[in-house]
Amino acid sequence: MALLIDSRDLSGLLSIEDAIDAVRKGFTDQGNAPSFSAPKTRIQYEDRRITVHPGGCPSLEVSGMFIHAERFTFNDDAQQYNGAGRRVYVAYNSETAELRAIIVGSLPIFPFDRFEETFGTETSITSAVGTDLLARSDCKVLGLYGTGLQARRHLVAMSTIRPIEKVMVYSRSEKNRKKFVAEMKNYCDLEICGVDDPQDATTGADLICCATNTNVPALYGDWLSPGQHVTSIVNSTKGVKEQAGLAKARREIDDEVVRRADMILVNIREQSIVEEHGDLCEPIEQGIASWKDIVELGEVLTGKAEGRASKDQITLFKQNSDQGVGFMGLAGLVCDIAENNGIGIEI
Ligand SMILES: NC(=O)c1ccc[n+]([C@@H]2O[C@H](COP(=O)([O-])OP(=O)(O)OC[C@H]3O[C@@H](n4cnc5c(N)ncnc54)[C@H](OP(=O)(O)O)[C@@H]3O)[C@@H](O)[C@H]2O)c1
Repeated sequence: MALLIDSRDLSGLLSIEDAIDAVRKGFTDQGNAPSFSAPKTRIQYEDRRITVHPGGCPSLEVSGMFIHAERFTFNDDAQQYNGAGRRVYVAYNSETAELRAIIVGSLPIFPFDRFEETFGTETSITSAVGTDLLARSDCKVLGLYGTGLQARRHLVAMSTIRPIEKVMVYSRSEKNRKKFVAEMKNYCDLEICGVDDPQDATTGADLICCATNTNVPALYGDWLSPGQHVTSIVNSTKGVKEQAGLAKARREIDDEVVRRADMILVNIREQSIVEEHGDLCEPIEQGIASWKDIVELGEVLTGKAEGRASKDQITLFKQNSDQGVGFMGLAGLVCDIAENNGIGIEI
């Protein structure tokens, strides 16, 4: 018997801490069994696209996929979604091959997301798992780029894993910054300030998080100081580049961020290679970095690769797309919650 679950019925039952732990377990399984994971696959026709994230986590007894559809356009050099259907998790029992659950909708992890905004809620959870591996444990000041959906969630996710006391947020519009500060003060007991100059969000920050929809760098490596950690979430695909008529792949960080990083972490390397992500592929093509020096989440989580080696290192987590294994970790958590709380329809 499988469960059909409407993600709205999970409201108030999913803690951010449990979600981070579930995604961490998913990527740990990926590190132990990389052949049971594959990069997301995206097909596109003009501005329509479908994305499938497959993955399996044998230790959690879950395997399957996460699927989503969007219409999208580009305005003012940035990507905008014109439509995004509800996401769907399809979760099997990896050991018996029986269907465990179909979960409709991204997970309601954050209290401020309205129903129509509830997509991509998992992204900041993946970012938290990687950031937690590299950022110094005493990070108190967060420099945040972006004031949109992902920026809100990343603010909360980053302050869940580190003792953040102060946030300096930059986006291009002063109106958006003011709105973000006023809104997020209702959800976080932190000092949150908007800054007019993008460099001011980096100067004095311990942890820097880029959560923008830009196509051109928002963060420059010249601004960085020893000991800082950077997490960046913008990626691109060849299809996006073609549809947007971009001369180059999307970037959120410049080459100097990559050059100055003592350590670079990604979710899985293959994702950036197949999709030709600009933030890594362009500096690698120029010899600034090399794939052999870039480590994966699963490798660090399973002890096959080292994390930060000293407090003075500059570290970079290029969060290069949520993966099926992370979604399946969350699906396993949701199955447990649904079974314990009588949620879902048996099918
Ligand atoms: N890695 C992953 O797994 C993953 C998954 C899902 C989504 N994403 C990415 O997440 C990104 C953000 O999505 P979203 O839903 O949060 O978009 P959103 O709600 O449209 O917000 C985008 C924000 O970026 C800001 N921005 C744009 N250019 C900027 C710049 N140069 N400097 C600082 N801020 C800038 C915008 O503010 P202003 O207009 O005020 O500048 C806006 O606040 C997208 O690029 C998407 O591709 C990544």
